[in-house]
Amino acid sequence: MKEKIFYITTPIYYPNDRPHIGHAYTTVLADTLARWYRLRGFDVFFLTGTDEHGLKIQREAEKHGLNPRSFVDKMVSIFKEYWSILDIDYSRFIRTTDEDHEEVVKYALDYIYRKGYVYKGIYKGWYCTSCERYYSEKEYIVENGRPTCPSHRKPLEYMEEETYFLKLSEFQDYVLDVLNKDIVYPRHYAQEIISKIKLEGLQDISIARPKTRVYWGIEIPFDKNFTTYVWFDALLNYVSGIEFLRNRDRFDRYWNYVHHVIGKDILWFHTAVWFAMLAMLDIPPPRKLLVHAFLTVKGQKMGKSVGNIVSIDDLMSRYGSSDAVRYILMRVLNYDKDVEVSWDLFDSIYTGDLVNTYGNLVRRLTVLAMRTLNGVVDRDLDEEFVKEIKPLIDQGIEAYNSFRISDAIKYAMDIARKTNAYLNKREPWRSSNPRPTIYTGLEALRITTLLLYPVMPRTATSIIRALGLEIEFSEEIFELGRVDTFRVREAPIPFKKLSGAAGGI
Ligand code: MSP
Repeated sequence: MKEKIFYITTPIYYPNDRPHIGHAYTTVLADTLARWYRLRGFDVFFLTGTDEHGLKIQREAEKHGLNPRSFVDKMVSIFKEYWSILDIDYSRFIRTTDEDHEEVVKYALDYIYRKGYVYKGIYKGWYCTSCERYYSEKEYIVENGRPTCPSHRKPLEYMEEETYFLKLSEFQDYVLDVLNKDIVYPRHYAQEIISKIKLEGLQDISIARPKTRVYWGIEIPFDKNFTTYVWFDALLNYVSGIEFLRNRDRFDRYWNYVHHVIGKDILWFHTAVWFAMLAMLDIPPPRKLLVHAFLTVKGQKMGKSVGNIVSIDDLMSRYGSSDAVRYILMRVLNYDKDVEVSWDLFDSIYTGDLVNTYGNLVRRLTVLAMRTLNGVVDRDLDEEFVKEIKPLIDQGIEAYNSFRISDAIKYAMDIARKTNAYLNKREPWRSSNPRPTIYTGLEALRITTLLLYPVMPRTATSIIRALGLEIEFSEEIFELGRVDTFRVREAPIPFKKLSGAAGGI
């Protein structure tokens, strides 16, 4: 039998500023999948954290007049605060300044150096500090006659210095092979990288920086005058986070099931570079790489450098709860296409789905159960209605299992809508035998709520309790007719109506 294990990661974020809703988009996605698998009784490990070394952080700290260590310490507590506000239930928050991580980076450098994959040379080229990467002539754009970063639209810096190179080129065929396996989701992102490699070849990359320029990094074990390139350092968090060196059994247990969630901006590093690095370390490629597109404002990727950020605070204060914010982000989730954010879009999701559909069903059904049956509702399943909603439940489960969270919660809303219509049709408040309709309605509400649980854990837990139940963590919970007796205790209004218009995005 397949083991029920699930390991999921987010990118580790640069703590140069507080997280915005773009970072929340990725992190809530990973948290939702982690909760989906926990709900089904899996052993889940969920890793997130911060990418703390390198020039970008070094400069940001200097700008604040702080040494990098105190700067990142301060920023990390802000990140943790936001993840706690958004109910992100990670198993470990990894920092690249953690001792066990630094140990892994040094080990990895030493290992691949001894295997002959590293050589000394001179690097000449154009660098974007916001991306922490070089851009080749084919990759950068030219604005006002100057080489410019295509992602941040900022002029690149010219560098020419001694460094160590990593022989990615030796792994070109291997990387292409791995890209042809069913790892990258959606598939077209793999195709993009395959085309790029076929066009340009897989070039060696520089993995060291002179300490005189970038002092804030992990020292290269075989040459004390250099620090480690921040991407080489950062990618390794995925293996150090589950104790690659300190507990090999544990590492093997989770690695086999690893799912990396990333935005499409860092696809190259998580395929070409990461697959090759893993091969050099004799570690198999990840099981899945889930890649999503951007949240945009006026067509541009939301980000600090562009200066078009919508903050997590703004969303929290408009919609009033972490669950509503999480729901909105997951409802618009799109792997393939960028999503243009707007208050109109967010408001219509909040009002249409949460207030008018789900919230309305919760309120009227619980009131009905208490008024007509004193809240005590024994099993009496209406098989006719079961036939109507069973396919939607199956499709919801299938959508989660294939990472399509937005579809999964749309199916949940379809069930809620059908149940509202079912109540209208049957009018149990007029009936001399209201029990079958109310029991079946409550079962539909229970399952809708469980399908919403990974996205809205707080609301779901409190609604399940209002029905006199507790959340169970097993595969069987989606069977209709599973509950012997509902004991409805209260009639909650989980989402309040919006008042007033929001400020402009
Ligand atoms: N530190 C690197 C990642 C190293 S992982 C080994 C990094 N950090 S970052 O802070 O810039 O975060 C990038 C990630 O944040 C993106 O890949 C994406 O997951 C998320 N997003 C940041 N802005 C976003 C949008 N505007 N829209 C969607 N996702 C966004 O890169």
